[in-house]
Amino acid sequence: MDITTDEFTAILKKTAELKAEIKKGKQPDVLKGKVVAMLFEKPSTRTRASFESAILRLCGKAVYLPSADLQLKRGEPVKDTARMFGGYFDGLVARVYQHKTIRELVEFSGLSVINGLCNKAHPTQAICDLFTIMEVKKDLKGRKLAYIGDGNNVCNSLLLACAHSGMHISVARPEGYDPDAVFLAEASKIAKNTGATIEITTDPTWAAKEADILYTDTWISMGEDAEKEKKLRDFQGYQINEGLIGLAAKDVSVMHCLPAYRELEITEQALEGSHSVVWQQGENKMYAACGVLDFFLG
Ligand code: CP
Ligand code: NVA
Repeated sequence: MDITTDEFTAILKKTAELKAEIKKGKQPDVLKGKVVAMLFEKPSTRTRASFESAILRLCGKAVYLPSADLQLKRGEPVKDTARMFGGYFDGLVARVYQHKTIRELVEFSGLSVINGLCNKAHPTQAICDLFTIMEVKKDLKGRKLAYIGDGNNVCNSLLLACAHSGMHISVARPEGYDPDAVFLAEASKIAKNTGATIEITTDPTWAAKEADILYTDTWISMGEDAEKEKKLRDFQGYQINEGLIGLAAKDVSVMHCLPAYRELEITEQALEGSHSVVWQQGENKMYAACGVLDFFLG
Protein backbone atom coordinates (compact mmCIF):
# COMPACT_ATOMS: atom_id res chain seq x y z
CA MET A 1 0.00 0.00 0.00
CA ASP A 2 3.01 2.27 0.51
CA ILE A 3 4.33 1.92 -3.04
CA THR A 4 3.07 2.99 -6.45
CA THR A 5 2.35 0.67 -9.37
CA ASP A 6 5.59 1.84 -11.05
CA GLU A 7 7.56 1.12 -7.90
CA PHE A 8 5.94 -2.31 -7.61
CA THR A 9 6.95 -3.08 -11.21
CA ALA A 10 10.48 -1.79 -10.55
CA ILE A 11 10.87 -4.15 -7.57
CA LEU A 12 9.85 -7.13 -9.74
CA LYS A 13 12.35 -6.10 -12.41
CA LYS A 14 15.13 -5.67 -9.84
CA THR A 15 14.26 -9.06 -8.35
CA ALA A 16 14.79 -10.66 -11.77
CA GLU A 17 18.13 -8.87 -12.25
CA LEU A 18 19.44 -9.81 -8.81
CA LYS A 19 18.30 -13.42 -9.24
CA ALA A 20 20.22 -13.66 -12.53
CA GLU A 21 23.35 -12.19 -10.93
CA ILE A 22 23.20 -14.37 -7.83
CA LYS A 23 22.57 -17.49 -9.95
CA LYS A 24 25.82 -16.64 -11.78
CA GLY A 25 27.62 -16.70 -8.43
CA LYS A 26 27.95 -12.92 -8.07
CA GLN A 27 27.59 -11.03 -4.79
CA PRO A 28 26.05 -7.65 -5.63
CA ASP A 29 27.29 -5.12 -3.05
CA VAL A 30 23.87 -3.50 -2.63
CA LEU A 31 23.97 -3.52 1.20
CA LYS A 32 27.73 -3.12 1.68
CA GLY A 33 28.41 -1.71 5.15
CA LYS A 34 24.74 -1.93 6.18
CA VAL A 35 23.41 -3.77 9.20
CA VAL A 36 19.78 -4.93 9.06
CA ALA A 37 17.80 -6.02 12.12
CA MET A 38 15.19 -8.76 11.87
CA LEU A 39 12.64 -8.41 14.66
CA PHE A 40 10.36 -11.48 14.83
CA GLU A 41 7.42 -11.87 17.21
CA LYS A 42 6.22 -15.07 15.48
CA PRO A 43 7.89 -18.17 14.06
CA SER A 44 9.08 -18.21 10.47
CA THR A 45 11.00 -20.58 8.24
CA ARG A 46 10.93 -18.90 4.84
CA THR A 47 10.74 -15.19 5.58
CA ARG A 48 13.43 -15.32 8.24
CA ALA A 49 15.81 -17.62 6.37
CA SER A 50 15.31 -15.98 2.98
CA PHE A 51 15.80 -12.42 4.26
CA GLU A 52 18.82 -13.42 6.30
CA SER A 53 20.37 -15.13 3.29
CA ALA A 54 19.41 -12.23 0.99
CA ILE A 55 21.05 -9.67 3.32
CA LEU A 56 24.28 -11.72 3.40
CA ARG A 57 24.25 -12.29 -0.37
CA LEU A 58 23.88 -8.53 -0.92
CA CYS A 59 26.97 -8.00 1.28
CA GLY A 60 25.10 -6.65 4.32
CA LYS A 61 24.90 -8.03 7.83
CA ALA A 62 21.71 -9.44 9.41
CA VAL A 63 20.94 -9.51 13.12
CA TYR A 64 18.06 -11.83 14.04
CA LEU A 65 16.17 -10.60 17.10
CA PRO A 66 13.30 -12.81 18.27
CA SER A 67 11.09 -10.65 20.49
CA ALA A 68 11.04 -13.37 23.17
CA ASP A 69 14.75 -12.63 23.77
CA LEU A 70 14.25 -8.88 24.13
CA GLN A 71 12.97 -6.68 26.96
CA LEU A 72 9.81 -6.41 24.83
CA LYS A 73 8.85 -9.71 26.40
CA ARG A 74 8.95 -8.08 29.85
CA GLY A 75 6.80 -5.19 28.73
CA GLU A 76 9.23 -2.57 27.40
CA PRO A 77 7.23 -0.49 24.94
CA VAL A 78 7.70 -0.96 21.19
CA LYS A 79 8.48 2.74 20.80
CA ASP A 80 11.45 2.56 23.20
CA THR A 81 12.77 -0.53 21.44
CA ALA A 82 12.29 1.20 18.08
CA ARG A 83 14.29 4.26 19.20
CA MET A 84 17.21 2.04 20.16
CA PHE A 85 17.10 0.14 16.85
CA GLY A 86 17.09 3.47 15.02
CA GLY A 87 20.52 4.14 16.50
CA TYR A 88 22.00 0.69 15.91
CA PHE A 89 20.76 -0.40 12.49
CA ASP A 90 20.30 0.77 8.90
CA GLY A 91 17.01 -1.03 8.27
CA LEU A 92 14.52 -3.35 9.86
CA VAL A 93 12.55 -6.41 8.78
CA ALA A 94 9.69 -7.07 11.22
CA ARG A 95 7.19 -9.90 11.66
CA VAL A 96 4.60 -8.84 14.22
CA TYR A 97 1.12 -9.61 15.48
CA GLN A 98 -0.46 -6.18 15.10
CA HIS A 99 -0.13 -3.85 12.15
CA LYS A 100 0.08 -0.90 14.55
CA THR A 101 3.41 -2.30 15.77
CA ILE A 102 4.79 -1.86 12.25
CA ARG A 103 3.57 1.74 12.25
CA GLU A 104 5.17 2.40 15.65
CA LEU A 105 8.45 0.89 14.49
CA VAL A 106 8.39 3.22 11.49
CA GLU A 107 7.55 6.28 13.56
CA PHE A 108 10.04 5.81 16.38
CA SER A 109 13.00 4.14 14.63
CA GLY A 110 13.14 6.46 11.63
CA LEU A 111 14.28 3.40 9.63
CA SER A 112 12.86 1.79 6.51
CA VAL A 113 10.75 -1.01 7.97
CA ILE A 114 9.97 -4.02 5.78
CA ASN A 115 6.81 -5.81 6.90
CA GLY A 116 7.62 -9.53 7.09
CA LEU A 117 3.96 -10.34 7.96
CA CYS A 118 1.46 -8.88 10.37
CA ASN A 119 -2.22 -9.56 11.04
CA LYS A 120 -3.23 -7.41 8.04
CA ALA A 121 -0.61 -8.00 5.38
CA HIS A 122 2.23 -10.07 3.97
CA PRO A 123 3.59 -7.73 1.31
CA THR A 124 6.96 -9.37 0.64
CA GLN A 125 5.12 -12.67 0.05
CA ALA A 126 2.94 -11.01 -2.59
CA ILE A 127 6.03 -9.61 -4.33
CA CYS A 128 7.54 -13.11 -4.38
CA ASP A 129 4.25 -14.51 -5.69
CA LEU A 130 3.87 -12.04 -8.56
CA PHE A 131 7.53 -12.50 -9.46
CA THR A 132 6.94 -16.26 -9.62
CA ILE A 133 3.86 -15.82 -11.82
CA MET A 134 5.90 -13.60 -14.12
CA GLU A 135 8.56 -16.32 -14.41
CA VAL A 136 6.05 -19.09 -15.04
CA LYS A 137 3.53 -17.31 -17.29
CA LYS A 138 5.87 -14.71 -18.86
CA ASP A 139 3.26 -11.95 -18.45
CA LEU A 140 0.96 -10.71 -15.70
CA LYS A 141 -1.57 -8.37 -17.31
CA GLY A 142 -4.91 -10.05 -17.97
CA ARG A 143 -4.02 -13.28 -16.15
CA LYS A 144 -6.59 -14.69 -13.73
CA LEU A 145 -5.67 -15.69 -10.18
CA ALA A 146 -8.22 -17.56 -8.07
CA TYR A 147 -7.55 -17.30 -4.35
CA ILE A 148 -9.41 -20.06 -2.52
CA GLY A 149 -9.66 -19.80 1.28
CA ASP A 150 -9.36 -17.28 4.08
CA GLY A 151 -9.49 -13.54 3.31
CA ASN A 152 -6.39 -13.10 5.50
CA ASN A 153 -3.08 -11.18 5.48
CA VAL A 154 -1.78 -13.11 2.44
CA CYS A 155 -5.04 -12.50 0.55
CA ASN A 156 -5.01 -8.77 1.39
CA SER A 157 -1.52 -8.32 -0.01
CA LEU A 158 -2.29 -10.43 -3.09
CA LEU A 159 -5.25 -8.16 -3.84
CA LEU A 160 -2.92 -5.15 -3.97
CA ALA A 161 -0.23 -6.99 -5.93
CA CYS A 162 -2.70 -8.30 -8.53
CA ALA A 163 -4.21 -4.84 -8.81
CA HIS A 164 -0.77 -3.29 -9.44
CA SER A 165 -0.15 -5.99 -12.07
CA GLY A 166 -3.40 -5.56 -14.04
CA MET A 167 -4.53 -9.10 -13.21
CA HIS A 168 -7.99 -10.50 -12.49
CA ILE A 169 -8.31 -11.82 -8.97
CA SER A 170 -11.25 -13.86 -7.81
CA VAL A 171 -11.41 -14.57 -4.09
CA ALA A 172 -13.59 -17.51 -3.01
CA ARG A 173 -14.13 -17.48 0.75
CA PRO A 174 -16.96 -18.48 3.11
CA GLU A 175 -19.23 -15.64 4.31
CA GLY A 176 -17.61 -13.84 7.23
CA TYR A 177 -14.01 -14.38 6.05
CA ASP A 178 -13.73 -11.37 3.77
CA PRO A 179 -10.48 -9.63 2.97
CA ASP A 180 -9.91 -6.38 4.87
CA ALA A 181 -12.15 -3.56 3.61
CA VAL A 182 -9.30 -1.01 3.52
CA PHE A 183 -7.18 -3.30 1.33
CA LEU A 184 -10.15 -4.05 -0.91
CA ALA A 185 -10.87 -0.35 -1.39
CA GLU A 186 -7.22 0.46 -2.12
CA ALA A 187 -6.91 -2.47 -4.55
CA SER A 188 -10.08 -1.31 -6.36
CA LYS A 189 -8.60 2.19 -6.65
CA ILE A 190 -5.34 0.83 -8.12
CA ALA A 191 -7.30 -1.52 -10.42
CA LYS A 192 -9.02 1.45 -12.10
CA ASN A 193 -5.63 2.55 -13.44
CA THR A 194 -4.24 -0.85 -14.41
CA GLY A 195 -7.29 -2.64 -15.85
CA ALA A 196 -7.29 -5.24 -13.07
CA THR A 197 -10.57 -6.67 -11.84
CA ILE A 198 -11.52 -7.96 -8.40
CA GLU A 199 -14.29 -10.38 -7.59
CA ILE A 200 -15.35 -11.81 -4.22
CA THR A 201 -17.51 -14.94 -4.20
CA THR A 202 -18.50 -17.84 -1.97
CA ASP A 203 -18.15 -20.30 -4.86
CA PRO A 204 -14.68 -21.87 -5.35
CA THR A 205 -15.75 -23.58 -8.58
CA TRP A 206 -16.80 -20.23 -10.05
CA ALA A 207 -13.53 -18.61 -9.00
CA ALA A 208 -11.45 -21.50 -10.37
CA LYS A 209 -13.03 -21.39 -13.85
CA GLU A 210 -10.31 -20.79 -16.46
CA ALA A 211 -7.94 -19.54 -13.76
CA ASP A 212 -4.25 -19.30 -14.69
CA ILE A 213 -3.30 -19.54 -11.03
CA LEU A 214 -4.95 -21.36 -8.14
CA TYR A 215 -3.67 -19.98 -4.84
CA THR A 216 -4.35 -20.88 -1.24
CA ASP A 217 -3.02 -20.36 2.29
CA THR A 218 -3.67 -22.03 5.61
CA TRP A 219 -7.20 -21.72 7.03
CA ILE A 220 -5.76 -21.14 10.49
CA SER A 221 -3.20 -18.37 10.68
CA MET A 222 -0.66 -17.94 13.47
CA GLY A 223 -2.44 -16.76 16.61
CA GLU A 224 -5.84 -18.19 15.58
CA ASP A 225 -5.68 -21.51 17.41
CA ALA A 226 -8.75 -20.71 19.50
CA GLU A 227 -10.84 -20.52 16.30
CA LYS A 228 -9.46 -23.74 14.85
CA GLU A 229 -12.52 -26.01 15.24
CA LYS A 230 -14.94 -23.43 13.84
CA LYS A 231 -12.69 -22.56 10.94
CA LEU A 232 -12.16 -26.22 10.01
CA ARG A 233 -15.95 -26.52 9.74
CA ASP A 234 -16.48 -23.24 7.89
CA PHE A 235 -13.83 -23.93 5.26
CA GLN A 236 -15.09 -27.34 4.16
CA GLY A 237 -15.28 -27.23 0.35
CA TYR A 238 -12.59 -24.55 0.02
CA GLN A 239 -9.76 -26.96 -0.79
CA ILE A 240 -7.46 -26.93 -3.79
CA ASN A 241 -7.68 -30.45 -5.18
CA GLU A 242 -7.79 -32.29 -8.49
CA GLY A 243 -11.47 -31.40 -8.97
CA LEU A 244 -10.76 -27.67 -8.78
CA ILE A 245 -7.64 -28.00 -10.93
CA GLY A 246 -9.84 -29.63 -13.59
CA LEU A 247 -11.98 -26.46 -13.80
CA ALA A 248 -9.05 -24.11 -14.27
CA ALA A 249 -7.00 -23.38 -17.42
CA LYS A 250 -5.20 -26.44 -18.80
CA ASP A 251 -1.80 -25.07 -17.83
CA VAL A 252 -2.93 -23.73 -14.43
CA SER A 253 -0.21 -23.20 -11.82
CA VAL A 254 -0.92 -24.09 -8.20
CA MET A 255 0.56 -21.80 -5.56
CA HIS A 256 0.74 -21.74 -1.77
CA CYS A 257 2.79 -19.38 0.40
CA LEU A 258 3.56 -22.26 2.83
CA PRO A 259 3.54 -23.70 5.42
CA ALA A 260 0.89 -26.04 3.94
CA TYR A 261 -1.49 -28.28 5.84
CA ARG A 262 -1.97 -31.24 3.55
CA GLU A 263 -5.53 -32.53 3.01
CA LEU A 264 -6.96 -29.34 4.58
CA GLU A 265 -6.58 -26.28 2.32
CA ILE A 266 -4.70 -28.32 -0.31
CA THR A 267 -4.32 -32.01 -1.13
CA GLU A 268 -0.94 -33.73 -1.17
CA GLN A 269 -1.58 -34.49 -4.84
CA ALA A 270 -2.19 -30.85 -5.74
CA LEU A 271 0.83 -29.69 -3.74
CA GLU A 272 3.21 -32.26 -5.19
CA GLY A 273 1.60 -32.65 -8.63
CA SER A 274 2.69 -31.38 -12.04
CA HIS A 275 0.75 -28.10 -11.76
CA SER A 276 2.45 -27.09 -8.53
CA VAL A 277 4.98 -24.23 -8.67
CA VAL A 278 5.06 -24.04 -4.89
CA TRP A 279 8.74 -24.97 -4.48
CA GLN A 280 9.85 -22.46 -7.11
CA GLN A 281 7.66 -19.90 -5.33
CA GLY A 282 9.32 -20.79 -2.00
CA GLU A 283 12.81 -20.43 -3.46
CA ASN A 284 11.86 -17.07 -4.94
CA LYS A 285 11.25 -15.68 -1.44
CA MET A 286 15.00 -15.07 -1.30
CA TYR A 287 15.17 -13.24 -4.61
CA ALA A 288 12.08 -11.17 -3.80
CA ALA A 289 13.76 -10.28 -0.50
CA CYS A 290 16.77 -9.10 -2.54
CA GLY A 291 14.52 -6.94 -4.72
CA VAL A 292 12.79 -5.43 -1.71
CA LEU A 293 16.05 -4.81 0.19
CA ASP A 294 17.57 -3.16 -2.87
CA PHE A 295 14.54 -0.86 -3.21
CA PHE A 296 14.35 0.25 0.42
CA LEU A 297 17.94 0.03 1.65
CA GLY A 298 20.18 -0.18 -1.40
N1 CP B 1 5.45 -17.96 3.54
C1 CP B 1 5.98 -17.58 4.72
O1 CP B 1 5.97 -16.42 5.11
O2 CP B 1 6.51 -18.61 5.45
P1 CP B 1 7.18 -18.50 6.89
O3 CP B 1 6.07 -18.31 7.89
O4 CP B 1 7.92 -19.78 7.05
O5 CP B 1 8.10 -17.29 6.89
N1 NVA C 1 -1.77 -16.50 6.93
C1 NVA C 1 -0.63 -17.18 7.48
C2 NVA C 1 0.57 -16.98 6.62
C3 NVA C 1 1.81 -17.70 7.06
C4 NVA C 1 3.00 -17.42 6.19
C5 NVA C 1 -0.38 -16.68 8.90
O1 NVA C 1 -0.52 -15.48 9.17
O2 NVA C 1 -0.07 -17.50 9.76
